[in-house]
Amino acid sequence: MTTALVTGATAGIGKEFAIQLAARGHDLVLVARDVERLEELAAELRGQRGVQVEILPADLSDAAATRRVADRLADENAPVEILVNNAGFGMKKSFLVNDLEAEEGMLDVLVRAVLVLSHAAGRAMKARGHGQIINVSSVAGWLASGTYSAAKSWVTVFSEGLAGELAGSGVTVTALCPGFVRTEFHARAKIRDDAFPDAMWLDAPTLVRDCLADVEAGKVISVPSVTYKALSTLLKVVPRRFVRSGGVVTRHRPPAR
Ligand SMILES: NC(=O)c1ccc[n+]([C@@H]2O[C@H](COP(=O)([O-])OP(=O)(O)OC[C@H]3O[C@@H](n4cnc5c(N)ncnc54)[C@H](OP(=O)(O)O)[C@@H]3O)[C@@H](O)[C@H]2O)c1
Repeated sequence: MTTALVTGATAGIGKEFAIQLAARGHDLVLVARDVERLEELAAELRGQRGVQVEILPADLSDAAATRRVADRLADENAPVEILVNNAGFGMKKSFLVNDLEAEEGMLDVLVRAVLVLSHAAGRAMKARGHGQIINVSSVAGWLASGTYSAAKSWVTVFSEGLAGELAGSGVTVTALCPGFVRTEFHARAKIRDDAFPDAMWLDAPTLVRDCLADVEAGKVISVPSVTYKALSTLLKVVPRRFVRSGGVVTRHRPPAR
């Protein structure tokens, strides 16, 4: 059976990818920082699904650790057919309030790791003539709200570009662009999650099931649910001044004296 590597597999969307890919019979390589949770999930999936599961603990904000994951993707003796670049987090505070170190760490996980791992996997998959890369982005990528949305914008556009580069090679690339999903994401970022109506929330099992169907259908962008399909269509056509988080900024005026 083929092997899938999932980053951020210890919680939320990544854990759900691991569960559903194991249920489809794929062997797994699970990547995240929390070794105990990685071992727990690996044991559960081996027992329940009878698949082989490796754990590869790595902090993807660290260049050397990310390199080790890239080396695993490039290993021709144990080919990885599906890469899910999912690990990520948000930050409550805004760009200028955050320490530069924290901002750089977020960029390393959300952008640099996706770039490095897609490069390793894309080359290996292209040489074999088959494979699937799934990059977990966000509808936030169509907004202009802090570095998180800028990073997710990069992930979506990068995925589209790589899909074009790999067209006809047998390798597909899909950017998954969810809205709000019930995971550990908001609690970890200390962001209140009770301000949005229930209708805006997605559950991870349905999100991942629909994404895997979109991947099989060869879609480059996967947007879940009618609500977020409508919202993303709107965000792509409204004038950019309406998607700026600081208000409807059209041009800067000198401050009043
Ligand atoms: N939840 C949402 O509303 C939402 C919406 C749109 C997009 N997304 C995106 O979906 C992806 C998954 O988020 P989630 O909602 O499932 O969040 P989550 O429940 O908090 O899970 C995040 C996962 O990423 C891992 N991770 C975080 N920092 C890492 C690092 N430095 N190195 C390696 N792994 C790291 C965590 O594992 P460890 O702590 O064990 O390392 C965990 O497994 C992210 O890319 C996020 O931006 C989420």
